[in-house]
Amino acid sequence: MREIELAKGVYWVGVVDWNVRNFHGYTTPRGTSYNAYLVIDEKIALIDTVKGPFSNELIQNIKRYVDPSRIDYVISNHAELDHSGCIPEVMKAAPGATLVASAKGHESLGLHFGGGWDKLLVKTGDEIDLGKRKLRFILTPMVHWPDSMFTYLPEEKILFSMDAFGQHIGSTQRFDDELGRTMVIEEARKYYANILMYLGRPIQNALKAASELDINVLATSHGVIWRTFLKDVMDKYVRWAAGEAESRALVVYDTMWDSTEKLAMSIVRGLEEGGVPARLFHLGKSDTTEIASELLDCRGLAVGSSTLNNGMLPLVSGFLTYVKGLRPFNRLGAVFGSYGWGGGACKAVQQELAATGIEVVQDPLEVRYIPGEEDLEKARQLGLDFAKTLI
Ligand code: FEO
Repeated sequence: MREIELAKGVYWVGVVDWNVRNFHGYTTPRGTSYNAYLVIDEKIALIDTVKGPFSNELIQNIKRYVDPSRIDYVISNHAELDHSGCIPEVMKAAPGATLVASAKGHESLGLHFGGGWDKLLVKTGDEIDLGKRKLRFILTPMVHWPDSMFTYLPEEKILFSMDAFGQHIGSTQRFDDELGRTMVIEEARKYYANILMYLGRPIQNALKAASELDINVLATSHGVIWRTFLKDVMDKYVRWAAGEAESRALVVYDTMWDSTEKLAMSIVRGLEEGGVPARLFHLGKSDTTEIASELLDCRGLAVGSSTLNNGMLPLVSGFLTYVKGLRPFNRLGAVFGSYGWGGGACKAVQQELAATGIEVVQDPLEVRYIPGEEDLEKARQLGLDFAKTLI
């Protein structure tokens, strides 16, 4: 491992999880990293740990710079186990250390591990004096859990932002400019969409707190550290947290005998003719994580399903359950599908979109069996009309 020094005496000591491919439903083809940071001053602080199975690697990374028994403070910015999983091992290796967290953090850590360590409860504005430098804490509840907080190192202008500004990227490169803006912003978008989309208001509060700080480096808990494109990602967060979206559309569907797919293709044609860029996703051949990422920037979502047993197809149901959890807002919807006799899929999809807060702006297009020319023209018209509502 090469030495990663963010500032004098401030080191990355995290680990790369090359092989993780699923993060509670979020697919991670690039793997990820769990970033922990060591601040060596007259006092020594470890900021966050890593996922439990990587405890030996974390301890070895710390030993490269300091004997772990010399650690004075273990800061837990966030109690989720990908960051707190090694706290028992670290506290064992650092028996004189004080565990620092928010009140909710200590509550969660106590429930996870039983506690028993020296602990310090902090709130916004509290500081720890490390000697020449200090650490300041800013509570950021619900970014990503109630316990979450930022830690700020003012003398170096480094914000340790835990999940915020993260990306699931496993890499030997540690900084944004080493991988390039396009890829890193794309992964940050995917991360925001799949982890943080429903947390717009708490994110806005955290952004406001961050805007009052002088920041040169955003040291996130996942992926690369932002030192070059931090304004870009912070501007993106402002936009995403406000629910802003572009005049674009997604057409997402599953199909039994290709009839619903034919409708989907015609709707895309109508959207295109109406001047609205669109992407089409067959749920049986697509990654929901990618669709959610696209949805973050798209104002329109058309959902189609064939009818199965008077309801929607299971893949559509699973997709809508996922989207409902993400709670996108300021989005418009359209519904379409095919059926054989009784129907039911369109009604079920419409209800689920309404429950998600997506306004369905047109009557659903339901077609019996294989769509003929007239039906396909209706689908194209639906796309055209939908496009008008999105511009
Ligand atoms: Fe990366 Fe909410 O944990």
